[in-house]
Amino acid sequence: MTQIAHYRDAFIAYLDEKIVLNKPKNLYEPILYILQLGGKRLRPVLTLMTAEIFGTPYKKALDAALAVEVFHNFSLVHDDIMDAAPLRRGKATVHEKWDVNTGILSGDAMLIIAYQLFENYDGTTFRELAKLFSKTAIEVCEGQQYDIDFETRNDVTIPEYLKMIEYKTAVLVGAAMKMGALVANASEKDAAGIYDFGRYLGLAFQLQDDYLDAYGNPETFGKQVGGDIIENKKTYLYLKALENSSKENKEKLIELFSSQPTDTTKKVELVKQLFNESNAPEAIKEAIQVYTSKAFQVLETLNIGEREKQSLTLFGKQLMNRTV
Ligand code: IPE
Ligand code: IPE
Ligand code: MG
Ligand code: MG
Ligand code: MG
Repeated sequence: MTQIAHYRDAFIAYLDEKIVLNKPKNLYEPILYILQLGGKRLRPVLTLMTAEIFGTPYKKALDAALAVEVFHNFSLVHDDIMDAAPLRRGKATVHEKWDVNTGILSGDAMLIIAYQLFENYDGTTFRELAKLFSKTAIEVCEGQQYDIDFETRNDVTIPEYLKMIEYKTAVLVGAAMKMGALVANASEKDAAGIYDFGRYLGLAFQLQDDYLDAYGNPETFGKQVGGDIIENKKTYLYLKALENSSKENKEKLIELFSSQPTDTTKKVELVKQLFNESNAPEAIKEAIQVYTSKAFQVLETLNIGEREKQSLTLFGKQLMNRTV
């Protein structure tokens, strides 16, 4: 069994033990539903792996890992409401299967459960974890608001987009890793370094998410392909396409991204044609490489062994080529 599969299995066993069906059923069922739908478990695996990299048994990091995954799933439940998304991990989203109110409240409870999990740490570790978590959670909200604001703006720049994805996605990947370092009492320098490694990987990860949203295989992707196009999301694909299109195509794109047509299939098809003509898919792939390389550069500054660096590098490479 690979190291990653080992951490994932241990994490899932812990999740199943700790998150159980309480009353009222209508509050807890959606929580269990979303948490048991699967997903890659990327963030908790990173927390556990980082704790061990800094010399502490992963078991000590299980509560922090669970907090991160519960928070992530909370953010998905609310994100799916905000993005009007019908599908998550190949199944109906919580607000589709139940309703919007259920999604709001079950999501709120998940956020609180995530905080509670830090109570299992004492003293300094508790304070450090809670502080990092609060900072990260508020940044995720800021990123999510930018993402929504950008839907109705047509002057979004690439630096603005990068800031938005750093907040909505990358900081949580960084924090997931730093939590492992905090539990392991790593040096401040190493904790900050592993945070940056995760943050760069998180940027690459969100770029890949944007790529897959348009170009993923609908059979296996698990989300509605073209969802970002339908919602007028100003992703890197869109911004690069604008930058590299003829005047005529640029106008077409702007027009398509200020509308909410009923024939969404046609819109997705037209937009993808314009993306393709401008080589936007190649540009996003290049950006993914750039941020993954930045993550690998940070790795060199960390006071960890070669084997550990290799495990993290392998993890980064696998993420870059993921299809779900
Ligand atoms: C989806 O995250 C939301 C993003 C930040 C892109 P993941 O792709 O990690 O979702 P799961 O947990 O594996 O389903
Ligand atoms: C999600 O971004 C970021 C958060 C949930 C905080 P997306 O909206 O791109 O994520 P998916 O594509 O729905 O998973
Ligand atoms: Mg979404
Ligand atoms: Mg979103
Ligand atoms: Mg997405």
